[in-house]
Amino acid sequence: MRLRRDVLLSVAVMGGLLAALVSHPSLGDEPVPHWVKGMLCLACHKSLNKDLVDRFQTTKHSKVQPDDKMAPVDIYRRSVGFNPADNTYFEAGLGCQTCHGPGSAHLAAKGNDEKLATMPRPDQLKTANQKLSICGRCHADYTYKGQPFAPDFRPGDDLIKDPDFKLAVVTKPADFQQLNDFMGSKHAANDVTCITCHTSHEQMTEDHQLRKPVPDVCLQCHATAHPCKLPEAQWPKDSTCVTCHMPGGRHVFAVQK
Ligand code: HEC
Ligand code: HEC
Ligand code: HEC
Ligand code: HEC
Ligand code: HEC
Ligand code: HEC
Repeated sequence: MRLRRDVLLSVAVMGGLLAALVSHPSLGDEPVPHWVKGMLCLACHKSLNKDLVDRFQTTKHSKVQPDDKMAPVDIYRRSVGFNPADNTYFEAGLGCQTCHGPGSAHLAAKGNDEKLATMPRPDQLKTANQKLSICGRCHADYTYKGQPFAPDFRPGDDLIKDPDFKLAVVTKPADFQQLNDFMGSKHAANDVTCITCHTSHEQMTEDHQLRKPVPDVCLQCHATAHPCKLPEAQWPKDSTCVTCHMPGGRHVFAVQK
């Protein structure tokens, strides 16, 4: 399909490295993919798409680390493969697999590009809920089966529709409640998702991993459809879309009457 010869070659070369580092005997046959060492993703994708990896490494995501003194939910938010039985994890930090899922089947495929393409891409998932769930499992205040995290979640799952998932009612700004605020907004009902405005792989020139600066990130839709009803001449000096529609940085996108 899309695979070039040099790509296939580098995949073949990586094969040896993989065999040495992946600790599962029968990768190809296993029905449920498992976590693999994140350095494998980095090594191979640095040769495939160098910019994509380099840019990811400029984001806050690539720098967060868990710490034993943190609450379990905060360790969950900063690791791959969190185990709630003893608050341990497969790997520290927010590796590639946090958003793309366990990579063993992807790796076991080696030169077979059918299987290589099995890593979920958040932007290509079918529903807005699936996309929101990828980010929302960390960026929300909730309980799942009575606990404040969802260790069984895998990219592609719809956490929001899961009857065991219950968003807390939030009333003031806090670090990890973007999904709570967002679900009450008209954006949530109109297929706008976290990755409409935020990127994980583009050039990080903006704060908060925004794809474009404010107001451009809003005007890509609101310049024509549903433009602001308050004429710009009436905006106080230095106010932006965020001042009035995201008060306190909250993702409510509300209109004050
Ligand atoms: C041995 C090399 C190799 C390793 C290791 C590897 N990949 Fe890939 N990956 C590829 C190739 C080849 C493709 C397909 C070509 C492309 O899209 O650039 C690909 C594609 C992808 C895609 C895009 C899928 C799509 O539908 O476009 C994602 C996401 C991805 N890999 C994530 C990962 C993650 C996460 C890891 C670590 C678990 C990983 N890869 C490890 C070689 C590798
Ligand atoms: C915080 C979530 C997140 C993390 C962590 C993450 N990605 Fe992605 N990745 C995405 C999203 C979202 C997309 C869809 C494209 C976009 O939004 O820019 C994507 C797209 C991709 C693609 C397809 C892009 C293309 O243009 O072909 C590849 C390959 C990929 N990621 C590999 C990786 C690798 C390798 C890592 C680790 C260095 C990684 N991702 C870490 C969210 C993430
Ligand atoms: C595994 C948990 C986890 C997942 C999944 C996750 N994040 Fe994050 N995110 C974090 C943590 C931890 C931070 C750092 C918070 C801090 O220390 O301020 C963060 C920070 C951010 C920031 C702030 C960056 C800055 O420079 O201010 C944005 C924006 C963000 N995440 C968006 C997303 C989006 C969009 C997705 C889905 C594609 C996503 N996150 C997926 C845990 C996660
Ligand atoms: C319509 C665009 C848009 C969407 C959709 C969006 N955000 Fe944001 N986000 C922003 C803007 C703008 C800021 C900067 C706010 C500020 O300057 O105070 C921001 C800031 C953030 C921050 C850093 C500040 C903070 O709140 O701690 C995080 C984390 C974040 N967003 C995560 C998310 C997540 C997760 C989702 C999906 C549930 C999401 N965003 C959806 C526009 C958006
Ligand atoms: C991908 C397109 C898109 C982007 C980007 C976008 N919006 Fe929206 N926005 C919509 C849609 C669609 C609606 C719903 C319109 C309707 O049906 O009333 C909406 C509604 C709104 C509303 C009205 C809410 C209400 O309850 O009436 C506000 C306020 C708003 N957006 C602010 C923003 C801000 C601020 C940004 C940038 C941070 C932004 N939007 C970015 C598509 C977008
Ligand atoms: C000074 C505060 C302020 C600023 C700045 C501001 N708005 Fe508004 N916006 C309002 C108010 C107030 C309304 C409701 C007006 C009404 O209903 O008569 C509104 C309404 C809206 C609506 C709803 C439109 C509809 O059809 O119902 C959208 C969407 C919106 N604004 C987007 C934006 C965007 C995008 C920006 C930045 C480019 C922005 N606003 C900047 C105060 C503001």
